[in-house]
Amino acid sequence: MSPRDSYTSFVNNPVGSRLAKTLGLPKPAPLKRYSPGQPLVTGPVLVLGESSASHATAKFLFESGVDVRRDVGVKERFAAVILGLDEAGTPADLSEQVLLLGRVLRRLRSSGRVITIGRDPEDPRVVDAPAVRSARQGITGLTRSIAQEMRQGATANGIQLADEVTADSPSALGALRYLLSARSAYVSGQFIAVSADAGETAQDPDAPLQGKVAVVTGAARGIGESIISTLQRDGATVVGVDVPAAGEQLSSVVNRLGGTALQLDITAADAGQRIIDHCAERYGHLDIVVHNAGITRDKLLANMNEAQWNSVIAVNIESQLRMNETFLAARGSAVASNLRLASLASTSGIAGNRGQTNYATSKSAVMGMTAATAPRLAETGGSINAVAPGFIETEMTAKMPAATREVARRLNSLRQGGLPEDVAETISYLVSDEAAGVNGQTLRVCGQAMMGA
Ligand code: NAI
Repeated sequence: MSPRDSYTSFVNNPVGSRLAKTLGLPKPAPLKRYSPGQPLVTGPVLVLGESSASHATAKFLFESGVDVRRDVGVKERFAAVILGLDEAGTPADLSEQVLLLGRVLRRLRSSGRVITIGRDPEDPRVVDAPAVRSARQGITGLTRSIAQEMRQGATANGIQLADEVTADSPSALGALRYLLSARSAYVSGQFIAVSADAGETAQDPDAPLQGKVAVVTGAARGIGESIISTLQRDGATVVGVDVPAAGEQLSSVVNRLGGTALQLDITAADAGQRIIDHCAERYGHLDIVVHNAGITRDKLLANMNEAQWNSVIAVNIESQLRMNETFLAARGSAVASNLRLASLASTSGIAGNRGQTNYATSKSAVMGMTAATAPRLAETGGSINAVAPGFIETEMTAKMPAATREVARRLNSLRQGGLPEDVAETISYLVSDEAAGVNGQTLRVCGQAMMGA
């Protein structure tokens, strides 16, 4: 819960809670967030089904020390319920597990999880098989609807395995671990597609980025500051990039994290090379780049001038396209072959947003770039993904008119805004080696915002 979200604080104290109930007002639950050393889940986890994913999941959780249950019991309150739907050949095959889930939903603990595990509906082997494809596609509507019925900060998400990916591959289990953990607190109604049998399980789950050198652009403040702090907490050596005008703020951030600063405008033609040179000189290599720097110049298109349009396109997308070409070409020398890239998109890029033609163009362009670059990175064991945040409590959103802000913040299944660390936790997961089999995707961190659903 954000200190800025005084409504959520109010309805979670006894007086406010009673008032909200009487007036029928929404009561956003405080979300349980991640901190290192936290157990993966607190409480029993129910794994439904007899599919290969059900068995692999139950085995993995049991070996991780989790209290795994295979039947619904009578009174347990579950921390999570997992549905192994990966062998469904027709929509009727979903019924048994779904109806069992319905019986235990009221026994889900606060900040609990429902996770469906299915197969990719667009796999070439099933695109022309109506029954199988409809079963697989059906899981998406199912999961999104469950997510909308969740209460008390609980979420529902899905994992979609490509047909050649085994349910016990490191990236399949990595996706499960991320969705079960408090790292995904503000992610609901979403799917993680695991497209390759790849990935490496972290030796130390609290330091998955150990030994990595990570660059974050726009690191002086806001979401970027949160991302660079999280990557450092997770074991990475960090380099913060920001414009010279933000130099002082940037230094204070990276000094606190034992990293280094690079004052650089990312629209410079040689920005990619300067990042590589900085990392090669200081650390000998570069493993991770997070393209976070972004700007808004909001105007209705009818009122927008050339500078407003051009600057947003230049900073938010053209610079990334150019830098990525430089990074990809340097793989195998200063840049790691298994380079991991991540970019900030936005739900505005998915749904569009009045007054943001420039920004929404740039953010959907980021998603296109991400999808198109993925196969080239996969060739050398690398990956690229994007995160699309919804309403995040930052300086940017604090400046919105109060009424618009209050509506925007509640229009999602969790009835609250996310925090910069919600975006940062997801980025840290996506750039870890465990997520190597997740590639070319845009993952929304939006509390299942109605916008662009
Ligand atoms: P912010 O404005 O607080 O921080 C952006 C940082 O990028 C600043 O430190 C700025 O100096 C730096 N930057 C801007 N242009 C640069 C350039 N040419 N070269 C180097 N650095 C540059 O923004 P915020 O809110 O932290 O957003 C970060 C990212 O997340 C952006 O890409 C934004 O579009 C995206 N995002 C933010 C959302 C929100 O609710 N705040 C929602 C969806 C996406």
